[in-house]
Amino acid sequence: MAAAGGLWICLALVLASLASSAPTPEDCTTEMFGNSSTALWACRTQLALQRNWFPSPIAGLFSYQVWNGFDGFWQNGAVLETFANFMYYGNHTRYQTCLKSSLRQMYDLELAYAPAPSYDDMAWFALSYLRIYEVLGDDDFLTLAKQIHDWNYQYGWDHTGACGGGYWFYDQKTTITNVQMLQLSAKLYRHTNDTSFLRNMTMTWKYIQKNRLIDPDTFQVSNIATKDCTGNRDFNKTFNSGVLVGGLVEMYHILNDTSYLTLAHRVAQATIFYSSRGGVLVERCWPEGCDEDEYVYKGLFVRYLRYLMDVSDDDTRRAYSDWLDGNIKSVIANAICWPEKSACNITYRDGPSLNNKTGPVFTLDWRGPFNISNPMVQAEVFDLLVANIEPGTTCRGAGCTYDPPVPPPRHLTCADKPCPAGEPCCEYQQYYTCCETTQKCIRGVCT
Ligand SMILES: *[C@@H]1O[C@H](CO)[C@@H](O)[C@H](O)[C@H]1NC(C)=O
Ligand SMILES: *[C@@H]1O[C@H](CO)[C@@H](O)[C@H](O)[C@H]1NC(C)=O
Ligand SMILES: *[C@@H]1O[C@H](CO)[C@@H](O)[C@H](O)[C@H]1NC(C)=O
Ligand SMILES: *[C@@H]1O[C@H](CO)[C@@H](O)[C@H](O)[C@H]1NC(C)=O
Ligand SMILES: *[C@@H]1O[C@H](CO)[C@@H](O)[C@H](O)[C@H]1NC(C)=O
Ligand SMILES: *[C@@H]1O[C@H](CO)[C@@H](O)[C@H](O)[C@H]1NC(C)=O
Ligand SMILES: *[C@@H]1O[C@H](CO)[C@@H](O)[C@H](O)[C@H]1NC(C)=O
Ligand SMILES: *[C@@H]1O[C@H](CO)[C@@H](O)[C@H](O)[C@H]1NC(C)=O
Ligand SMILES: *[C@@H]1O[C@H](CO)[C@@H](O)[C@H](O)[C@H]1NC(C)=O
Repeated sequence: MAAAGGLWICLALVLASLASSAPTPEDCTTEMFGNSSTALWACRTQLALQRNWFPSPIAGLFSYQVWNGFDGFWQNGAVLETFANFMYYGNHTRYQTCLKSSLRQMYDLELAYAPAPSYDDMAWFALSYLRIYEVLGDDDFLTLAKQIHDWNYQYGWDHTGACGGGYWFYDQKTTITNVQMLQLSAKLYRHTNDTSFLRNMTMTWKYIQKNRLIDPDTFQVSNIATKDCTGNRDFNKTFNSGVLVGGLVEMYHILNDTSYLTLAHRVAQATIFYSSRGGVLVERCWPEGCDEDEYVYKGLFVRYLRYLMDVSDDDTRRAYSDWLDGNIKSVIANAICWPEKSACNITYRDGPSLNNKTGPVFTLDWRGPFNISNPMVQAEVFDLLVANIEPGTTCRGAGCTYDPPVPPPRHLTCADKPCPAGEPCCEYQQYYTCCETTQKCIRGVCT
């Protein structure tokens, strides 16, 4: 009798799920992640990122993997680490092919921006590749991370020794490149035992200290070093302290010295203190408003905060986790839109998506209200959710291995109308480029 009753319940469930269209492996279901609603939301957020913005209709133009409308080369690299992190913390292999197909050779990466990408842009790819190596164990990613490291050191380090060296960003030394390289050198040393990486790490650390990039009183992090070898005291950009925290955690791993962790906590807590409003992280870009680079900074902060949480004692970890949870609650309550249920303003800068709009999509201000979504702010919320997935979360079911093929880049011409509205398409031999809105295309040249 009990068995028969069970059968009827089963049938009813099957029929009910058929009526509301049974989930496919693409769908993120409550069953997949046990009790982790954070992992479930991360899964949905990644699905919407991929469905709405990947692959880009202009993927054929570039030598790297592009999401439709990311601000630039660097964000296409930076988002890969979140994919690897979600696999790791979420215990699944969703989008593995997408992640693996992101590998590019040095020459292709160098081609990405004419005449050459900046060192911070390259370092985002290196950090992501190294994380992919950690999670998937594919040596080719380690090799590329080393090559990028060496290229940056060769061309980007100030070998004159002024202000103790440091990595350039054009004619100034931005903190971001230096904290990225600190983390990259340290992590490469951990994975290779090659002491040249350790020496690089130490040089970069000395440079950061000599230029007082970390304010000794408040532990806020300056954005740029001045010509006088001091921080410029623009403390507003959350990603500087995030990437530094990631670097300090790596230094702790290889030097086994807890003073780096103590400093990492101070730096992290300073950003949480100075950049939260009502408990919610806010990028301080006013009065002028955030530029499109700044759309992802908060996500980068919380991404590296997670690496600190992973080496924190239980109470400290819980305090960070509660703070992240407050941010997640705010985002899900106030900064969200579901295209299936209402009209959501979604930016497709490179032309219409290959798929129908899918939610949830998110907006820049984690306090809300929702006004407009784009792949940068979606990736930022993806980072937030992944950062707070409960340790020990497991994934069960067909959804855990969902792995759509990644179409090979297709060569496009202006006939495909690949350029955003207002940007003239300019064809030269079999190549094309999108001119600025203020330019015209005259005989194959944006003028
Ligand atoms: C979910 O939570 C309940 C109650 O806390 C617990 O009994 C159960 O084991 C959990 N399930 C999983 C898969 O973690
Ligand atoms: C998921 O976790 C289990 C252990 O709980 C482990 O054996 C398995 O390899 C993990 N799978 C992935 C894809 O991480
Ligand atoms: C690096 O050295 C440590 C300590 O000897 C060792 O445990 C580790 O396996 C080495 N790692 C590599 C990649 O050689
Ligand atoms: C820094 O790294 C580069 C590339 O690996 C290496 O050639 C150089 O010797 C390193 N610098 C120091 C001071 O070890
Ligand atoms: C930093 O943000 C504050 C708002 O919190 C703003 O008043 C200030 O001008 C910003 N500083 C810089 C250097 O942009
Ligand atoms: C790391 O430091 C701690 C505390 O000083 C010490 O007990 C431990 O043995 C060290 N571990 C290694 C691998 O050196
Ligand atoms: C969507 O945002 C764009 C860009 O700001 C704006 O021009 C447009 O009016 C918005 N559309 C809707 C329906 O809100
Ligand atoms: C988009 O939705 C429409 C209407 O539901 C459907 O007919 C179409 O097949 C969908 N297109 C894609 C690419 O999923
Ligand atoms: C959306 O809101 C943000 C502040 O959260 C603002 O900076 C941005 O200009 C708004 N965008 C549009 C298109 O209204």
